[in-house]
Amino acid sequence: MEASGKRRRDCYILARLNPFTWGVELMHFAWCGQFNAVAAIVVIGCALAAAAVLQVGGASTLDARAASVGSGVFSPAQAQRGDALYARYCAQCHLPDMAGKDPAPELAGDKFLAKWMGRSLGELYGRIAATMPADRPGQLAPADYLDLVALLLSANGFAAGDRDLSDKPGALDEIVISK
Ligand code: HEC
Repeated sequence: MEASGKRRRDCYILARLNPFTWGVELMHFAWCGQFNAVAAIVVIGCALAAAAVLQVGGASTLDARAASVGSGVFSPAQAQRGDALYARYCAQCHLPDMAGKDPAPELAGDKFLAKWMGRSLGELYGRIAATMPADRPGQLAPADYLDLVALLLSANGFAAGDRDLSDKPGALDEIVISK
């Protein structure tokens, strides 16, 4: 009596220690030699709970990756700094109102948005930093290019928030241009 009671208790403990593997279930069957409904429910319940936790974790990682420009990713002050840079380095080709003048395309409006929707801020930043101003590519400091990205977002109707765009490597890649 004593020994069999202890063995059954050991079975419970084993199942609880490692409830995620069906191997434990099999061991449990083999060892106890009889079906134990309670232990089975514990094992299945733990497996379901683990699956739910994994799914929630996965979903929140996805949300973080898909942060959108709609959530206030730049500050008004940053867009204002961008505005001063724009007047000095960009407006002669793209025009002060950003409507563009052939061959320089518009930088604010439906055409610009249609082209950049679904792409990341990292891509937009890279495009500007590598090729603009067209007559002196790469002239400006990284912080200045960041301010210009903030200005373009503002000019395209995205709301400002309370923080500057992050200059951490990779951060801009995670922000998608979308309404
Ligand atoms: C000397 C003229 C000139 C200046 C100055 C200039 N650009 Fe451009 N820009 C162009 C031309 C021409 C194109 C299109 C061809 C190309 O990409 O080289 C363009 C393309 C762009 C694009 C891509 C637009 C799209 O539809 O994908 C962006 C963004 C841009 N410029 C931003 C800027 C910013 C920001 C500045 C200021 C730092 C600037 N440009 C200064 C001439 C200029």
